[in-house]
Amino acid sequence: MSQLKHLLSAGDLDREAAIGILDIAEEMADVNNRDIKKLPTLRGKTVVNLFFEDSTRTRISFELAEKRLSADVINFSAKGSSVSKGESLKDTAQTLEAMGADAVVIRHHASGAANVLAHSGWIQGSIINAGDGTHEHPTQALLDAFTIRRRIHGSGSNGKDLSGLKVAIVGDVLHSRVARSNLLLLNTLGAEVHLVAPPTLFPADASKWQAELHFNLDAALNDVKPDAVMMLRVQAERMNASYFPSEREYSRIWGMNADRLALLKPDTLIMHPGPMNRGLEITAAAADSKNSTVLEQVANGVSVRMAVLYQLLSGERANIDA
Ligand code: NCD
Repeated sequence: MSQLKHLLSAGDLDREAAIGILDIAEEMADVNNRDIKKLPTLRGKTVVNLFFEDSTRTRISFELAEKRLSADVINFSAKGSSVSKGESLKDTAQTLEAMGADAVVIRHHASGAANVLAHSGWIQGSIINAGDGTHEHPTQALLDAFTIRRRIHGSGSNGKDLSGLKVAIVGDVLHSRVARSNLLLLNTLGAEVHLVAPPTLFPADASKWQAELHFNLDAALNDVKPDAVMMLRVQAERMNASYFPSEREYSRIWGMNADRLALLKPDTLIMHPGPMNRGLEITAAAADSKNSTVLEQVANGVSVRMAVLYQLLSGERANIDA
């Protein structure tokens, strides 16, 4: 497998590279089940978590993954730093470079921020995109693929892809970096992708995407009989206009609830990247059902991010069993 330097987009991964990361994540999951959940792999390496946008799961998950690989970890959030005094991304990046960061995990409200950092020359280390605006969130797509593969093919299903599986991505596609990264990775792994949303929440160019588009959730679930349904959060903070009449109306027409669960095959996975708007895009009955993978996704996120860091940073030092 060729050496990746950055992970900016799910499109950076071809089938072999994506399966390679999922397979390493299987080994990391074994480490995470041990008493001592720690590997020396990144000892002496410095990883900076540079978060310009709020995050709970992703930030904690990266931090835990870095610590389990024995990296030195610096958490830098825009609030409480010189960024709130107006320091630019360039000055911040150059400061991190001067401190010797080997990798920067960046979340930013601007689409393209991770690409700017990777190609600016301000920083020599690896850049990992932890979510840039409405653009991409590649580690979320990897952990979602890992979760689907484990649930459907079982743990330790190394080498397998997602061919033959049907995945429906439902809701606020327009504002979702999770949807964009999943679309790319699911296609790379051979799954059939269905996007289901009200016309106002589809991007203008969605008809060019490698997916089937649906404008009616009940019809889509009935016709497609998906193996997994990914519910997207309604991203109110990115909405500067009214995209649907009311929350009640949205949850009635587009929400995953007990009635819709009953339309699905009994073992269909109900996924959500979190944070969930319970009662809006998903009801408690669906979020807490046996079909739900929400907490597995969180747990798998740590293993997958360990695998990504290992892949980008470990070089010849590689020895998972150490
Ligand atoms: C997602 C994100 O931030 O893009 N959440 C996450 O990383 N767990 C999805 C979302 O916020 O809706």
